[in-house]
Amino acid sequence: MTIEALEGSESILKKIGNTPMVKLDSLSNNDAEFYAKLESFNPFGSVKDRAAFWMVKLAEENGLIKRGHSVIIEPTSGNTGIALAGIAKLLGYKVEIVIPEKASDETKKIIESLGATLYQTSDDLCPKVGAGTDQSIALAKSIASARPDKYYSPNQYSNEANFMGHYKGTGPEIWQQTNGKVTHFFSGVGTGGTITGIGAFLKEKNPDIKIIAVQPQQNHLIQGLRNFEESAKPDLFLKREQVVDDWLTITNDEAFAAVKEIFIKDSLLVSPSSAAVYVAMKKYGIQKGCAVGIFADDGKKFKSLYSQQKIFTEEEFDRAIGEAKHLSHDSFY
Ligand SMILES: Cc1ncc(COP(=O)(O)O)c(C=O)c1O
Repeated sequence: MTIEALEGSESILKKIGNTPMVKLDSLSNNDAEFYAKLESFNPFGSVKDRAAFWMVKLAEENGLIKRGHSVIIEPTSGNTGIALAGIAKLLGYKVEIVIPEKASDETKKIIESLGATLYQTSDDLCPKVGAGTDQSIALAKSIASARPDKYYSPNQYSNEANFMGHYKGTGPEIWQQTNGKVTHFFSGVGTGGTITGIGAFLKEKNPDIKIIAVQPQQNHLIQGLRNFEESAKPDLFLKREQVVDDWLTITNDEAFAAVKEIFIKDSLLVSPSSAAVYVAMKKYGIQKGCAVGIFADDGKKFKSLYSQQKIFTEEEFDRAIGEAKHLSHDSFY
């Protein structure tokens, strides 16, 4: 499958990547500039469109899946499920997603509305890898291994295509969008595809660029991110973890307070994980340079969570959707 050859409804997939970067006026000054890379502008709404597309593309190229026949099954805390459901359906695959029941209701509804079958487990918000209690990963594996002729699990936690999507796409985009001026890069870590792919590319361009990993507190409510005291590191992350220079841990309270702060100061309606990245960018103490943070998705699917956390009432949230700048209304879900 080549991107250029995609036609008809499949051409939606050409819109993956090349996401905008916006300046965060609330943090920037004459000496230091701060930018958010808005991954919500991918067609299925998050940074995970990139990994999902690359994993399906490489599986097809390697003859591991066949359109109209194969079923793609994957454990995910949300965004990979949305991306795989959307992308694979366009290409003619059935999709089954195993998700922790704590993922937001909106996330689950989006996955189902894209035609995927949803299995829920009682895992923590982000399925744990390694030994332990990760029912989502175990369930996906057991379904796939019972019918290897039909089922394929991309396994984003070790699939090199997940890394490549960022090494070949997001990393070069950030380099170009900052004209090579980027000095600091911030990202949360789920599988590690985003931070290692972008980090490896940027370090090749300029080894002095600092790569900062953002992790949530233990027992967190930050969909998509992982705390490494609670969970082992995924294989994909372990392979290149040396690209990370520093770690910052952000609490639930800090992230949720920042959701409101970013809306008031920058007019952006962001997801909890993007708010965690923002807090890390603010706390790191950059006096001079150009910092870029991955805002992995936007706030649209967190109405119920934000109302529960008393960030926005439902009425305030609806108003915020209308008032927010840089909110993509072109998502295909
Ligand atoms: C919501 C969300 N999903 C996924 C990711 C990145 O995931 P991965 O490490 O799997 O590339 C992030 C990181 O910024 C995130 O905030």
